Amino acid sequence: MIINKKFSITTILIGIISLCVASSLPQPSGPPKLVNLKVFPKSIPYRVLDHQMDVWAASLGVRCNFCHVRNAQTHKMDFASDAKPEKISARYMYVMMGKINKKYFEAQKDSLGMIMTMGVNCNTCHRGVSHPDIKAVAAGNDNPGYGGPGPVGPDKVN
Ligand code: HEC
Ligand code: HEC
Repeated sequence: MIINKKFSITTILIGIISLCVASSLPQPSGPPKLVNLKVFPKSIPYRVLDHQMDVWAASLGVRCNFCHVRNAQTHKMDFASDAKPEKISARYMYVMMGKINKKYFEAQKDSLGMIMTMGVNCNTCHRGVSHPDIKAVAAGNDNPGYGGPGPVGPDKVN
């Protein structure tokens, strides 16, 4: 009887102590919740989104803050905010890319429902530059690096 009582008191004490220790340990936190997705599927796993973001940043030669703002109070990045016009542009670019791939490269959707980048991706146009040059290239002799003799024809070359 006495042994049993001692045993149960010890058991309870150990229980209380381990509860205290457990609650003081840092809680395992899951990936951040994604709250403002308008072009990516809502079911996109965080690691897939994070990878896309790395690819976009590298394709444009920029860092996250090119499209995302920092919260003035907390000084943390506020990835859900749509305050930067560049983020809005990026959504349009993503939709454009999907349309090109679907229509002209017959791209299918992947298991998440995202149109695969069979033909063009951000880097096809951007090549590490946020604002690719949209000036038309000069034709023919004005720009010898731009393939072919140009519209004037071969006899004008020399
Ligand atoms: C070229 C612009 C651009 C760059 C650079 C960029 N992002 Fe994004 N990011 C976006 C857009 C656009 C969305 C919203 C996608 C949507 O609407 O489905 C987004 C969404 C996110 C979200 C989800 C926010 C939410 O809760 O809705 C996270 C997290 C995020 N970006 C992190 C990053 C990180 C980290 C980097 C740097 C490695 C980065 N982004 C770089 C444009 C960008
Ligand atoms: C078919 C070519 C093409 C593709 C593909 C493309 N872009 Fe662009 N993008 C451009 C051009 C051209 C500009 C420059 C427009 C200008 O300077 O007026 C631009 C500009 C931008 C800008 C700057 C807009 C601003 O408001 O300053 C962002 C951000 C951007 N692109 C993101 C992306 C992302 C992200 C992808 C891939 C999802 C992508 N682009 C794919 C051609 C492309």
